[in-house]
Amino acid sequence: MDLTELRGKYIEAVAQAADEAALEDVRLAALGKKGEISLMMAALGKMDPEARKAAGAALNVVKTEIDAALRARKQGLADAALDERLRSEWLDVTLPGRPRPRGTIHPVSQVMEELTAIFADMGFSVAEGPQVESDWYNFDALNIPPEHPARQEHDTFFMHRAEGDDRPPHVLRTHTSPVQIRAMMAQGAPIRVIAPGRVYRMDMDQTHTPMFHQVEGLAIDRDISMANLKWVLEEFCRAFFEVDKVELRFRASHFPFTEPSAEVDIRYSNVGGQLRIGEGDKWMEILGSGMVHPKVLAAAGVDPDQWQGFAFGLGIDRIAMLKYGIPDLRAFFEGDLRWLRHYGFAALDMPDLPGGLSR
Ligand code: PHE
Repeated sequence: MDLTELRGKYIEAVAQAADEAALEDVRLAALGKKGEISLMMAALGKMDPEARKAAGAALNVVKTEIDAALRARKQGLADAALDERLRSEWLDVTLPGRPRPRGTIHPVSQVMEELTAIFADMGFSVAEGPQVESDWYNFDALNIPPEHPARQEHDTFFMHRAEGDDRPPHVLRTHTSPVQIRAMMAQGAPIRVIAPGRVYRMDMDQTHTPMFHQVEGLAIDRDISMANLKWVLEEFCRAFFEVDKVELRFRASHFPFTEPSAEVDIRYSNVGGQLRIGEGDKWMEILGSGMVHPKVLAAAGVDPDQWQGFAFGLGIDRIAMLKYGIPDLRAFFEGDLRWLRHYGFAALDMPDLPGGLSR
């Protein structure tokens, strides 16, 4: 075969190879073990010495040229691939870094952590119950039978039952008191628990929202009295509001699930929308409380002849408003970022008693 033609064929094939795989095919076809040029090299052995010398030299030149072309093309393809990667994987290092998380802890969450720390220190553990509750836990077990007027006063949200199912509907719990029942059924007596969480009532004005937060407290033992209740609440308020002077007012009241019952107000002032605790001439109702009714103990399987104790239900949003001087309750749940940034807490600001609750 004409060596010029052979050379031309492979030089052209090298130039046409679109990528490294195609180029490798060309190399194998020409210079591989079974390649055309390699086979011609092998065939030289059958020539007579004179002819072999001339043909071998000429063939070597062609082989060297093709080999050089292969290497050059290979380098070219690699360069092009790198260029392409540099183009496609380009990164603008001048872009600003990731912004720091901007979220804050909602005052309600912060206050729940704070009050949990305080009550934990007094020996209360945390209990929980569902927000969609059966009417038995929310009412009956708490000595509020179906025809009791208190059921109407609760402005209850009712869940739907399926068509034809005429069992009483579930409710959105109207208070955290059903957790008293659940906790006593689960743990028996003696017991000391708090149960913070969401509750629901159809109500809406400057101091009421349809969803709000309560913390239930329950302490049952052999000889717990109203005096213990008063001490726990006063001690709690002193620790929570972080002021020595907190004034509580116990007012006789009525709840079906406690006997006797008391509502508790706290003294505060409101100067130009700024709420201050422990001074002034205003009183804000913050909780309902009393000695757990024997019928309630019995409903939860606790023997009222052996055990007695107190319970209270404290409005978390209210004490958050008072402590952090937040005038309008509705703003708590509007999700306004400016409000959240203003009243929110840093995520690492976990309240604990040794560190001071609200640094
Ligand atoms: N459950 C009552 C309410 O929501 C508060 C309360 C709790 C009263 C426990 C007495 C005892 O108004």
